[in-house]
Amino acid sequence: MNVEKGFVDAPIQDGIDLAEEIKKLKTEKDAVVLAHYYVRGEIQDVADFIGDSLALARIAEKLPNRVIVLCGVHFMGETAKILCPDKKVLVPDMNAGCSLADSCPADEFRKFIEAHPGHTVVSYVNTTADVKALTDVVVTSSNARQIVESLPADTPIIFGPDRNLGNYISSITGRDMLVWDGACHVHEQFSVEKLVELKKAHPGAKVLVHPECKKTIVLLADKVGSTAALLKYAQDSDAGEFIVATESGILHEMIKKCPGKTFIPAPPSDSTCACNDCSFMKLNTLEKLYNTLRYEQPEITVDPAVAEAARRPIERMLEISEKLGI
Ligand code: 13P
Ligand code: SF4
Repeated sequence: MNVEKGFVDAPIQDGIDLAEEIKKLKTEKDAVVLAHYYVRGEIQDVADFIGDSLALARIAEKLPNRVIVLCGVHFMGETAKILCPDKKVLVPDMNAGCSLADSCPADEFRKFIEAHPGHTVVSYVNTTADVKALTDVVVTSSNARQIVESLPADTPIIFGPDRNLGNYISSITGRDMLVWDGACHVHEQFSVEKLVELKKAHPGAKVLVHPECKKTIVLLADKVGSTAALLKYAQDSDAGEFIVATESGILHEMIKKCPGKTFIPAPPSDSTCACNDCSFMKLNTLEKLYNTLRYEQPEITVDPAVAEAARRPIERMLEISEKLGI
């Protein structure tokens, strides 16, 4: 089967009901489909579980199925494979990377760590397995605050790779942290001026912001949190309107879970581009998912030694989160 392009490039019969066929293949192959909130709505609709990166890692670890298909980005597939080495972990398109993970090459991160001995290394889950293997504890945007707070107060911390999340966590915990200079190309795009204008036009709207956004955007937020936390806030809130400063895919679940409420995507600086779409997440399509299930390709592999070293900090994150009830 041709996977040279990073996905199965096989013809699909005209007129078939892809959602229905995917459902049949899942049963036939003992496969489960996990999807992040940022993927296309039609994929979220056929997934067995949707969630933020913490939830997806947790679910993957507990599943009994032979095959896991991770519809998200590459590091999410890798995390699932590291936690479930005996399972076949597939992704619809290997090209679905992450600009944040790319902003932290493992060899450079290693040099940074070596230049600052004695630090506890905290890495965001949006990293490659090689970077996780250099890490003491992994965090996601759902648990970064509590995990940093759980470290002894006098522990010097290296935080990588997201400068926005790192600086935000440092500001709310008061912890001094050496922060790697990486960022997500989607979350850095939001325009303060346009967000202020939008707030004026919708005075009753609550502003929901992912902590990967720049500080100037975070300062305008009513709620700062992971995708799951923003969704929960919208569900629990009495407000009827929300301005959403994160990747646009989350709106699909927000609209589904909050009937009658209005969600307005926060505008990017360049209004001519679809900048609040993560181009990597959008590489996942129903067609590619169908072919992935059909041919059981492309498969995520992680070097066993790297996987072994990367598993410890991920498990440490899961253990701390469990203990703290996150
Ligand atoms: P969450 O952990 O909030 O799901 O975010 C993952 C991500 O890639 C944000 O850009
Ligand atoms: Fe990576 Fe940004 Fe896409 Fe999230 S939105 S997967 S951080 S590139």
